[in-house]
Amino acid sequence: MWVQFGFRVRSPYVACMNDQPRILFVCLGNICRSPLAEAALRAAAEREGVAMEVDSAGTSDNHVGASPDSRAIAEAKRQGIDISRYQGRQLKTQDFTRFTHIFALDHNNLADIESLAPADRKCRIQLLMDSVPGKNGHAVADPYYGDENDFSRTWDDVALAADALVERFKR
Ligand code: 4NP
Repeated sequence: MWVQFGFRVRSPYVACMNDQPRILFVCLGNICRSPLAEAALRAAAEREGVAMEVDSAGTSDNHVGASPDSRAIAEAKRQGIDISRYQGRQLKTQDFTRFTHIFALDHNNLADIESLAPADRKCRIQLLMDSVPGKNGHAVADPYYGDENDFSRTWDDVALAADALVERFKR
């Protein structure tokens, strides 16, 4: 709908009808990999001026409402991004209609997402690194039981994927 100042207000109807990509990243806990993927894509999309909605979720409910892992916050900070106010949430069935694309960080996440997905879903569900040339079939390794070097490797993977997604959605 249009308001008196002439800009368009986002209504749910408009959100359904526009073709702006709506991207959801999904890992297990939503405190390590998917918040970093969300941050990387938000930053890349802003840098390139590509409009998209970006969010993240976990397949488990273990960290609902929690801040990202302190090592993920630290890695994002090294990249100049503050993710300290992100909050963990669990993947829900409405996500399959709200988002145009759901990206799984690893193969277990992909299987769990597929098992929740309604048969008539319209959104595309893919392994994230399948979007990166040369990384087809690769998982973003879980850094939870690792150290800060593992979180840096997570960032390297999700930043590559973010660049590839921005290129894909620019067109
Ligand atoms: P994430 O990492 O799926 O990348 O957020 C993990 C976070 C928490 C746990 C495992 C992985 N956990 O076992 O609590």
